[in-house]
Amino acid sequence: MHPDIQVKVATSQQHSGEYVFKVHPNLKGLIDLTFANDTPEEAASKVDIIFMAVPHGSSIEHVPKISEMGVRIIDMSADFRFRNPADYPVWYGWEHPAPDLLSKFVYGMPELHREELKSAHFISVPGCIASSSIYSLAPLAKAGLINGVAVVDAKIGSSGSGNKPSIATHFSERYNSVRIYSPSGHRHIGEIEQELSIVSGIKTTVTMSAHSVNMVRGILTTSSVFVDRELKMPDLWNAYRSMYGKEPFVRFIMDPNGLYKYPDPKLVVGSNFVDLGFVIDQHVRRVIALGSIDNLIKGAAGNAIQSMNVMEGFDEREGLMMSPMRLV
Ligand SMILES: NC(=O)c1ccc[n+]([C@@H]2O[C@H](COP(=O)([O-])OP(=O)(O)OC[C@H]3O[C@@H](n4cnc5c(N)ncnc54)[C@H](OP(=O)(O)O)[C@@H]3O)[C@@H](O)[C@H]2O)c1
Repeated sequence: MHPDIQVKVATSQQHSGEYVFKVHPNLKGLIDLTFANDTPEEAASKVDIIFMAVPHGSSIEHVPKISEMGVRIIDMSADFRFRNPADYPVWYGWEHPAPDLLSKFVYGMPELHREELKSAHFISVPGCIASSSIYSLAPLAKAGLINGVAVVDAKIGSSGSGNKPSIATHFSERYNSVRIYSPSGHRHIGEIEQELSIVSGIKTTVTMSAHSVNMVRGILTTSSVFVDRELKMPDLWNAYRSMYGKEPFVRFIMDPNGLYKYPDPKLVVGSNFVDLGFVIDQHVRRVIALGSIDNLIKGAAGNAIQSMNVMEGFDEREGLMMSPMRLV
């Protein structure tokens, strides 16, 4: 739906030769391409911008060559998200084979990296749980309020695991379940620490517990930081508004009397919005930062498009002003 972009090639190994709308029937009438069996290098030779949406460890096999072809790259995987190559063995268990390329990628989060994105050629799109966590915690980091460890509780729907079926995403296993699949050590912690440390200017540490819940799309992160002084709500409003007050895709959901008092994935699914909320528990001087996104849009493809818009000098909202679905 983007007015300045034409999709020239869509690749798939398993669906090669099939119409895109046969695989994605919701796109019927919107796209008449068939899936090509091109290698990423072949696809890159036909376009100005390539979006890589393959599993971690697969992008790195192709990006070094494509990066020499004069094509702009937007990579959805974790292969280029870290600035420090030493983070790869820690969080992914492998040494990065092309560490020199890492500094050429900009982290695709326009709200935090807009100026760098304007001159970028290569963009690395943030992880989905990382996105919700970073959006909600960054104002606290910037205000110097994260002095100890930030604690993230994440709940995510099944599409966060990709489209390959597994017992963990099987409907009957998933239904009625709230399964803590990563009580500690989640890979996205590394990205969250990286970005909060950049924003705050000090090394910031994070711990996270991640749960699979009974949704297809959507993430809710409930994050806690403990502060050493008394805070009032206007202090937090200042922190959040000064960071996001003019952002087209950041909304504050703070309605103490409403049904939806704070962010809920139901309010963002189908859109590029990130909904934020915050609360102070004065009893223990705990600040609770809430974030909610559609993991496939603001947590992936939406941030990719928004970052591309910044890189190309388009209106940042182009192709992205969909209303959330709020299925009822
Ligand atoms: N799902 C999310 O919420 C989310 C959010 C943010 C970022 N991401 C990241 O975005 C990327 C794509 O995510 P996804 O959820 O779409 O993943 P996915 O479903 O696991 O993989 C996407 C497609 O990649 C192709 N593929 C699979 N293995 C491959 C291999 N070894 N080499 C080349 N292509 C291969 C397959 O397509 P064909 O067989 O049709 O070619 C597959 O359908 C991943 O790196 C993921 O971590 C995902």
